[in-house]
Amino acid sequence: MKIIASNFKTNHTRKSTKEFITTVNKFLIDENISNEILVFPTATSLDNFDISENLIVGAQNAYHVKSGSFTGEIGTEQLDEFGIKTILIGHSERRHILGESQKDIALKFNYYKALGYKIIYCVGEPLEVKEQGITETLGYVLEQFDGIDLDYSNMIIAYEPVWAIGTGVSATNEDIERIHKKLKKKLQKPLLYGGSVKLANISEILDIPNVDGALIGTASWSAEDFKKIIKIASKK
Ligand code: PGA
Repeated sequence: MKIIASNFKTNHTRKSTKEFITTVNKFLIDENISNEILVFPTATSLDNFDISENLIVGAQNAYHVKSGSFTGEIGTEQLDEFGIKTILIGHSERRHILGESQKDIALKFNYYKALGYKIIYCVGEPLEVKEQGITETLGYVLEQFDGIDLDYSNMIIAYEPVWAIGTGVSATNEDIERIHKKLKKKLQKPLLYGGSVKLANISEILDIPNVDGALIGTASWSAEDFKKIIKIASKK
């Protein structure tokens, strides 16, 4: 069954997040959809939501501590308050905009792994690497697994080429097929594709071999569109 995840990034308020999650939860129940659906709201919108088991709310980010003096960060004390046991790690915006190094990411991974969190681990190459060809692209992506325990069982991988994120231009089906095939050989984990996935392309992307689901930003922020995307995924 395909996995569909929504990354809110820096979007939605506490109020609109609650509305979104309530609407999506009702939809899953009414339509009898049992696919795993993940939603990553902003840290300020995390809460104790009364939702179905297959609808999972996770954190977009947290520091590798329980609590302490790390201005601007949250730790597991804050996540525990809301029963959050799922986290996104290695997203390209954290790597390239917020400056997280592979070392930082591996520290975070190991901390949350030790606590048994479900980890959605993101990898993907920037445009200048893609332009160098498939061997370089694969090499770059595989380096993003440095320090990451690929035997960790509670883990989903998301391949998200940086140049396709938020640009409206998804990777071609051929690009996705090629990389996913190679990654799947190395990683026996559910493998999502991310990068400008939307209503218009979700169906064909989910039909690509070795694509186990999608991690969606922009196109998932409207509950109505997200429900339509989920419906399509539920039929695959
Ligand atoms: P996008 O973002 O769907 O807006 O391209 C995907 C992501 O960053 O996870």
